[in-house]
Amino acid sequence: MTTPVILDVDTGVDDACALLLAALHPGLDLRAVTCAGGNAPVESVVRNTLTVLEAAGRLDVPVARGAARPLLEHPVDATHVHGLDGMGDLDWPKARAHADPRHAVELLRDELAAAAAASADGSPDRRITLVPLAPLTNLALLLRTHPEAAAGIREIVFMGGAAHVGNATASAEFNVFHDPEAAAVVLDAAGELGIPVTMYGLDVFYEPRVSAARAAELVRAGGRGAAELGGRLIAYQCQRFSSAAATIGDAGAVCAVIDRSGVMTHRLPVRVELAGTWSRGRTIVDRRDWSGDLDHDPHGVAPAAVDVCLEVEAERYAELWLETVSGARSRAGTGART
Ligand code: RIB
Ligand code: CA
Repeated sequence: MTTPVILDVDTGVDDACALLLAALHPGLDLRAVTCAGGNAPVESVVRNTLTVLEAAGRLDVPVARGAARPLLEHPVDATHVHGLDGMGDLDWPKARAHADPRHAVELLRDELAAAAAASADGSPDRRITLVPLAPLTNLALLLRTHPEAAAGIREIVFMGGAAHVGNATASAEFNVFHDPEAAAVVLDAAGELGIPVTMYGLDVFYEPRVSAARAAELVRAGGRGAAELGGRLIAYQCQRFSSAAATIGDAGAVCAVIDRSGVMTHRLPVRVELAGTWSRGRTIVDRRDWSGDLDHDPHGVAPAAVDVCLEVEAERYAELWLETVSGARSRAGTGART
């Protein structure tokens, strides 16, 4: 029985790695992909996402454009990291396919309603695991506009935040920093609606890595297929950061859906700092291990208890990504782009 998933992306080099894994792994049923501005403007994100799905032979998966900007913050991209086109400036032919005409929130609403209906009356559980890999703007809009959609959500496994470190700033991780209000809304709504949440944050994000040598093997697959694209994405990061290996990034969150035992999690209260001058966008993960009397804690209990990923079987996830993407070699051979 496959696991139904929907990815919310800001493709992005590592979002592209995640899309390849989700599109190709036999244990997942990729129902849709929704796009938000983040690493790159949302139009580039849509184009990049369609390009990746085309390389994976998966243009059957609907892709919808979502929020172009955060709820309150002004959009700030990360093209200095992901390249001017947002996907490593690989000179890879852009897909000519078109996005679904619906807004991301409408596509999510429709897919989740169908999943809830299909799971009713003792039918097998086909509720969807949402995998946000971008600023959480689309999910915040969904959960506040259509709270009934929660009936179709099995869980949320999101890449974002951190218990200990930052990257966009010393305090905050990029996806949460980009739209802190959206992250706070999602955690609040998930707590209110009883949606389980797993946070795949920076504490584990950088650990599953693929070497330049393994990437070169993928590139040699050629044929403008998924394996070649995956290799070029890793090679781009190695070159961009002058390193012998590169993280699979967002793809690690998809690995956590496929192989949950590869992460060690603790269920902890999590809040998002919205006001701090130097700490805005920080995920405040409460790791106090004392029984403590929260009645006297001026901040009380956080709205959401989140399964926070604190350790990862990095090698295992890197191999999972490599085996899945390189396994596409034969797919590339049959359905390769001309
Ligand atoms: O902080 C890392 C996150 O920000 C990843 O999702 C990356 O793609 C960027 O969106
Ligand atoms: Ca991302």
